[in-house]
Formats: sequence, C-alpha cells, structure tokens
Amino acid sequence: MNQVVKKRVAILISGRGSNMQALVAAAREPDYPAEIALVISNRPEAPGLAWAREQGLPTVALDHKRYESRPHFEGQLQSLLELSRIDLIALAGFMRLMTPDFVARWYGRMINIHPSLLPAFKGLDTHRQALSAGVRISGCTVHFVSAEMDAGPIIAQAAVPILCSDKEQDLAARVLTAEHKLYPAALALVANDQASLRETTVVWQSFGAAGINHPEALFSPSL
Ligand code: GRF
Repeated sequence: MNQVVKKRVAILISGRGSNMQALVAAAREPDYPAEIALVISNRPEAPGLAWAREQGLPTVALDHKRYESRPHFEGQLQSLLELSRIDLIALAGFMRLMTPDFVARWYGRMINIHPSLLPAFKGLDTHRQALSAGVRISGCTVHFVSAEMDAGPIIAQAAVPILCSDKEQDLAARVLTAEHKLYPAALALVANDQASLRETTVVWQSFGAAGINHPEALFSPSL
C-alpha cells in the first residue's frame, strides 16, 4: 500500500489555543494529510502551550521579549522550523506581526485564521466591528499570509448568522465553533496540495483559479 507522506506542520500560538486543539484533533485521524510536528508560543505562559505539552507534542516557548528585534526573534524561529523540518506554518491566534522577509520566505506555506469574513473587519475586535456595522452574517476566513495584515489570498470561509440578541461574546462563540471546523478543513486542502498559491491567487487542483464551486472551501450559515 502507498504510504502518503504527511506535511509537517508547526502551529504558532500566543494564547488559549482552541484552534490549535482543533488542528491537533484532526491530525490524529490516520488519513489526515498533515501531522503537527511542533507547537511554538511567543508567550511562555500561554495556556495553549501547557495543553500541547500535556499532549506530548513537541513544544517551544519562544519569548519575543528576549530578542532585541523582530529579525532576531524570527532568526531563532526559522532555525527551530528548519530543525523540525517544517513544511507548513499554521498561525492560530499568534499575536505577532511577521517581517516582510519572513513572510516572503514562507509565502504559500504559511496560513492564518481570522474571525471575520475578510476583507471585512481586519485587525482586532472583529466581532465588535461586525456588530456595530450591523451586518447580518459574519464568519471566519483562512488565508495565506502575505505582508499586509489579514489581506492574503483567501483559501476558505465559513459564515454564521448574527442574531438580533447577539452580544460580542455570543457572536465570538458562534464564530469560534465555525473556526474549529474550517481550520482543519483548510489546512487539509493546503497540505494535500488541492489549494496552492500562484503569485497572488489561490489555485485549485481540480477547479483552476478562484476555486469556483470548490465546496470544501465554503461553509454556509446554519442556525
Ligand atoms: C481566534 O478567534 C482566531 O481566529 C484569531 O485568534 C483567536 C484565537 O483563538 N486569530 P484560539 O487561541 O485559537 O482559541
């Protein structure tokens, strides 16, 4: 039987790590095309890092405050990634901006999840932004990381309804549930080369540019 070579993934976190947990759970399935080979947190006290350690995953606390500059921090990060022979980086609540050099080096091999339907509501406080804009649908987006924050080519999106009674935390919880389904699905699409980056466009193996009707890349609203 042909053994499929799994992509080696590093997950970068800064906090709670619930998306990391969803990726770890998915990667435990025998036919999932990626394995979680490393978890790195720039915050040593991150609860997600403690969880990953308890699971027996290889973990590193890489405290950015101990580095005199962003390039020094990223130099050490790069060494760790090379040492672990990492193919793909999945940012999961990683709260550090990367330099254009680091982004260029990993372009097409680094993905992120953002809790809004990009290009709407970039940056922080996305749920507050969505509620004050009065939109009726929000969601989450997995995208390749590019030099501009929250602006990289979109791989997959999930939509959720906004209810009239929603407070910020209600919407956050509903979107987070969608994130936990979307991120493993999107990482699988990248890991098995179904979705890849050509210049600034996501190209789909079976559907050509733009991924028209690529159902795995779209999760629709449901109540
Ligand atoms: C998620 O909402 C993710 O979309 C955003 O940061 C949050 C991280 O949550 N980038 P968690 O640490 O994965 O629980």
